[in-house]
Formats: sequence, structure tokens, C-alpha cells
Amino acid sequence: MRKDKQQFETQAIRTQTETTQFSEHSVPLYLTSGFVFDDAEEMRASFAEEKQRDLYSRYSNPNVNEFVDKVCLMEGAEAGFAFASGMAAVFSTFATLLDAGDHVVSCSSVFGATHGLFTKYFPKWNIECSYFNVNEVETIEDLIQSNTKFIYAETPTNPGVDVLDLDYLSAVCKKHNLLLVIDNCFATPYLQNPIKHGADLVIHSATKLMDGQGRVLGGVTVGRKELIREIYLFSRLTGPAMSPFNAWVLSKSLETLAIRTDRHCENALKLAEYLEAHPKVNWVKYPFLKSHPKYDIAKKQMKLGGNIVAFEVKGGVEGGRAFFDSIKMCSLSANLGDTRTIVTHPASTTHAKVEDEVKAAAGITDGMVRCSLGLEHIDDIIADFKQALK
Ligand SMILES: Cc1ncc(COP(=O)(O)O)c(C=O)c1O
Repeated sequence: MRKDKQQFETQAIRTQTETTQFSEHSVPLYLTSGFVFDDAEEMRASFAEEKQRDLYSRYSNPNVNEFVDKVCLMEGAEAGFAFASGMAAVFSTFATLLDAGDHVVSCSSVFGATHGLFTKYFPKWNIECSYFNVNEVETIEDLIQSNTKFIYAETPTNPGVDVLDLDYLSAVCKKHNLLLVIDNCFATPYLQNPIKHGADLVIHSATKLMDGQGRVLGGVTVGRKELIREIYLFSRLTGPAMSPFNAWVLSKSLETLAIRTDRHCENALKLAEYLEAHPKVNWVKYPFLKSHPKYDIAKKQMKLGGNIVAFEVKGGVEGGRAFFDSIKMCSLSANLGDTRTIVTHPASTTHAKVEDEVKAAAGITDGMVRCSLGLEHIDDIIADFKQALK
């Protein structure tokens, strides 16, 4: 049941599929591949889309519908489709929107796998991508061509934690009649709503803070109804859909997204402030630190600064290695958005296959550490960083 007037937290908890004859309080898991029809006419009408109902779980499923409904309410979107992973959402969205001969303008600072799609796979379908530097957004208009379809960006970016002005990107898109597609994974719909700033489509890796406990993979694209309809038709044929089990887990996770994210952000700001004052740290980047180059923009479009902090240890690669080898409690992992604080070395992991100049443009240095703040007590997190930086 959707209630458009309720607050974010209430909608996240009270948006539920209809109760069954068992009057359960918590939504059951609809682990079924198919659905049954009363007669031939119902089956025909359903497949002809004259009747709205679930047909087959590659197309839709009650648990997946509930998850999508919640994300649509949270993002202020008309419609959405949920995927098996964030990358399935990114790829299926691009593959639906783009034809051979099209061109994309993307921020150079995007997730490594997204960059891999642009550089390794799209060229073989004659789709080109031009990159703009996150610190040179005024160059975007020069990159636009007659065959450009959309502008693509993450904000904050992974892993550089740079911030892009959504109002500016949307104004450029409107002027040139382009779509604006935003990966809102780092912010979550709780902290930032790109559609309210003019984005046409918003993508999430639900694997991150939406799940929040490092259990399941998931992805979702929400936005304008007619675009989602095309994405649905592509996905219905190609099969990247989210599993009902993952949707069930993720929909329950969304019930606590707001309260968890508040604490994640509080921990992140405290760690960022601690690191900024540390003599063994060259620089720290966090959207809600006054020293962040786009602090004003972050404050304008984000409710809080998110749970990701980037910093550079003094001593280059050796300094970075010594830090990682000394960390005791925090996890060395490539994931982010977990209850457990995670430290990652982007240059040797998620961005290892990205060319040096692209890494530099994305602000990734050899000594850069990306921290995903978890929900442990901040005193214990800081104690671990303190001993590792000794
Ligand atoms: C910004 C961003 N977009 C997309 C993805 C891909 O998501 P997934 O790992 O769920 O496929 C990630 C994963 O880290 C990400 O950080």
C-alpha cells in the first residue's frame, strides 16, 4: 500500500505487499518462478498486458515489486525495475538507452566496472564515450556531439568522493536535450534525490547501504515512466532481474535505511575530522568537511555527507601498504556500505585495470585509502586507525 504523504522512514516501513489469508505482520517470501492463471482468457489478457498482475519472476514478483515501490517513493520516481546487481542495473540501463553510433558524456570518476563497459564493450558496438574531469565541469558542453544520448555521473564519486552539482548537470542536459542518468549509490535515496534536481534516471547498487549488512547483491533503476518501460522490456527478454529472496532481504533492509545511514554518516564525519588532524595523513576527502572542494554543493544537495571517506597516507605505496598491514579490527575488503568498517586500496583493487591518466583524473593516487564507515562504536574505529597509522 503506497501512501505518498508519509515521511521517508514511515514509507520505508509501511510500504508492503498486501497481507495474505494468514494475516502475517512481516511480508512473506514469494519464492516462486511462475504464477498461475484461472483460465485461458486470464492468461491471454495478462500476457497482452490488458490485466496487471505477476506472470513470471523474470518480469516481476511481489517481493521485487515491494522493493521497487519503496525505492520509487524514496527517490520521487514514477517507476523502476530491480536487478540482480548494481552492474546489471548500469548495463541494462545503458543497453536500453543506447543504439549503435550513439555517444555518452560521462564523468571520468566512475566505478571501475562502469568504466570497463565504456572502454571495453561499448566500442565494439560502435558506442563512444567522452570523459569530463570532475574538477572541470565547464568542459562538458564542449564534449557534447550531435549523437550524444545522455550525461552520466556518480555523485559522490567512487572512490574519489568528489561531488558534482546536480542542478548544473541537469541544466546542461536540458539545454542540449539530453537525458541525465545518475548513479546515486554513495548517497542513497535518504541523503540525495537526483530526480528532484532534474535527473531522468537514477541507478543504485542496492548491495551497498541499501542492504547495509554485506549479505546480498542487488541493483535498481528508477525514473521516468516511459524510460523504465523500455528498460523493463529489455530486461524481460534478457533476464537480469533481482531474485525474490534478495528483494525480500533488501526491502526489509530499507526499513532501517534512515536510522542506519544517520549513524554511518556521524561515524564518517568523526573519522574524517580525526584523520584531517593526523600528522601522517596528506589529505582527507569527505563531502561534509569544510575542506572538501565542493563542500557548498554537497551541503546544497545532500542531507548528510555519506559513509565514505577517502584519504592519503604519507609515504606513497609503502605507507599505504604499512597502513593496510597494521589494521586490526576494520576489514580489508572491496565492498562498501556494510555494518563493518571496510578499508580498500582502489589503486590495486577496484581500479587496478583503469589507465593511469583516468585514475589521476578520478583523484586516485597510489597511497589513497577508501574507508566505508560501519556501525561499530566510533571510539573503536578511531583506535584501530590510530594504531595502524603509528
Ligand atoms: C558507484 C557504484 N556503482 C555501481 C556499483 C556496482 O554494484 P554491484 O557490485 O552491486 O554490481 C558499485 C559497486 O561497488 C558502485 O560503487
